[in-house]
Amino acid sequence: MKLQQTIMSNIFILLILILAACGTAPIDECDDSESLHQLADFPVGVAIDMSLLHSEKIYADLAIEQFNSITPENAFKAINIHPKQSIFNWQTTDLLADFCNTYSKRLHGHTLIWHDQLPNWINDFQGSRDDWEQLFREHIQSICTRYRGVAASWDVVNEAFNNNGMLRNSVWRKKIGDSYIEKAFRYAHEADPDALLFYNDYDLAMNETKLKAVLGLLGNLRLRGVPIDGIGMQMHISIQHPENTQIARAMKDIYEAGFRIHLSEIDVSINPLGKIINPTAELLERQANKLAAVTHLYNEIPHRYQYGMTFWGISDKNTWIRYHFGRDDYPLLFDDNYEPKPMYCKFKEAL
Ligand code: G3I
Repeated sequence: MKLQQTIMSNIFILLILILAACGTAPIDECDDSESLHQLADFPVGVAIDMSLLHSEKIYADLAIEQFNSITPENAFKAINIHPKQSIFNWQTTDLLADFCNTYSKRLHGHTLIWHDQLPNWINDFQGSRDDWEQLFREHIQSICTRYRGVAASWDVVNEAFNNNGMLRNSVWRKKIGDSYIEKAFRYAHEADPDALLFYNDYDLAMNETKLKAVLGLLGNLRLRGVPIDGIGMQMHISIQHPENTQIARAMKDIYEAGFRIHLSEIDVSINPLGKIINPTAELLERQANKLAAVTHLYNEIPHRYQYGMTFWGISDKNTWIRYHFGRDDYPLLFDDNYEPKPMYCKFKEAL
């Protein structure tokens, strides 16, 4: 009986050891000698919320230590930077530009032209097509001129397509016509010829129709000499969707069409259906594996097409997903207390 008990307890210990060896590396074993951007062969970026940058020291410390590319999460959106027709609010964006300069971070501007986050004065603007075009040009060129030589790149046009592959009927399209996309790139280039210019959108891996439409339009524009350097695949993904094969196919289609790829707004939802959940070890491990798979795929594309992987925030507690969808979720690299999650360690291994 005693022998049987000893054998059983040894088997139990062995099982624990095997499970520990196969599972995600415990956080305290996560290699801390190098930060994310030091390990990566491409820039590793993060979307920055300016109020957190000033109010939470640990947030700023992590931004400085872990990332070498910065995308302003909201500061450059028209509603914030251009609140009245005659007023540009440069205060916040200048501070961000100083931050990038001080800490040698690449600044990726987001976003010049979008249907969302527009101030009332633009939505309500009355004028001819020429007046609209002037407003549009002034908006783009005032911003690009001020940050000429400072912003390395811009999301020039954001989310211009519907999911069915048709152009979204945004205020810009209604007032200026379909050519607003081409014009946006040309005006941005005129104001800063050295900045790299991107088209940015969501669900490009998940939605083949949309990807085809985007590549069709951008390909045609490029043939006519419109300066478009790359495509931002936003990558608001979940542990289930899209399939890794879909992500691989979309990346291939994009770089084979000659566009750089910026994984521009990464977060990995563990609760896309908005259930009541706990971030269990199993869910966090699936999340870590999903990001690792994406990273492996990104590592496989030719280096000259890799513009970088940018996370849409630092800590779970500030993710847009929680306040936008009102759901419990844990999509980022650091938890609510800024502790690194399994996804952070697996990402490091995958880099
Ligand atoms: O500025 C007000 C602030 O004064 C107020 O105290 C606060 C109270 O809730 O609201 C603040 O504005 C919010 C802003 O985020 C800053 O936190 C807006 O209501 C809120 O709508 C806004 O959400 C942003 C969203 O874009 C706007 O559509 C998210 O932070 C931002 O992460 C999200 O980012 C977009 C990308 O730009 C484009 N791709 C999709 C992505 C996710 O929606």
